[in-house]
Amino acid sequence: MRVLVTSDLHYNVAGSREPTRRLASEVCRADADALIIAGDTCGHDLAVMDEALALFESFRGARMLVAGNHCLWVQAGQSSRHRYESEIADAARRRGFHYLDREPVILNNVAFVGNIGWYDYAFASESLSIPRRFYERKVAPGAALMLPEHHDLLRDRHDIRPDLLEIRTRWTDGLHVKLGCTDPDFTRQLADKLAGHLRDVRDRVDHIVVAMHHLPFVELVVRRNRPDWDFANGFMGSPVFGDILLAEPKVRYCICGHTHVPVQVQLGGIRCMTVGSTYYDKRYELLEVRSHGCHDQQ
Ligand SMILES: [Fe+2]
Ligand SMILES: [Fe+2]
Repeated sequence: MRVLVTSDLHYNVAGSREPTRRLASEVCRADADALIIAGDTCGHDLAVMDEALALFESFRGARMLVAGNHCLWVQAGQSSRHRYESEIADAARRRGFHYLDREPVILNNVAFVGNIGWYDYAFASESLSIPRRFYERKVAPGAALMLPEHHDLLRDRHDIRPDLLEIRTRWTDGLHVKLGCTDPDFTRQLADKLAGHLRDVRDRVDHIVVAMHHLPFVELVVRRNRPDWDFANGFMGSPVFGDILLAEPKVRYCICGHTHVPVQVQLGGIRCMTVGSTYYDKRYELLEVRSHGCHDQQ
């Protein structure tokens, strides 16, 4: 079985539109049995997701997607939870895509399982020593210094090294994602769902392919020893997903989006990778899932 996986089409971004259209036309001509889009298809405007998914209408195989954090960006007064659970499901259905966040798909003896994943700050760089309250608010200390609404984080500075005040990164999910619960709580809910979906399929197939947007393994996290970049690593994913995947021997592949940097690593029996599309260059991976084993090729 030949499976194409792409991610981070960001079709709401002007520079992403032409490369996404080029990728879609290549994908639609490809000889493949399934296509997965691993998140970050759109931003606030969900109509853009409809537009992007329509580009893959002539793809002949099964079409699947998971949500990305940008797909949960909503306007003031709207709910990211509603976006995640209902609106994206409706958009996927309208365009003939299976929404893996809602339920797995089985094709022959291969199951496709996945969801958006999320972050609980576990991948934060320990050497930075940024106190947890900054991750919870999604602003680095230097950004908090510039933004009056976050000055309360700096009232007591005994645990803030002076150099941390130079880090001005903010993770913009903090402005646009309205979950109604904490990030660790959402992470736990998604991990439970992933475990449940794996239980649902494991006795019915020989192979499982997992697609997530956020990263389940620290080995996929890109470290640059640049404080502005490394602060953002707190929002890359969570190892709770990885622990669940490593406990399931039928998982052959885990493919993710989110980082915009392609990384591949073998962990136990799982070939793990990030697609690595950027805002201006769209990529896909071709996975070969065979009854006697799997290998991938680009
Ligand atoms: Fe992205
Ligand atoms: Fe993302």
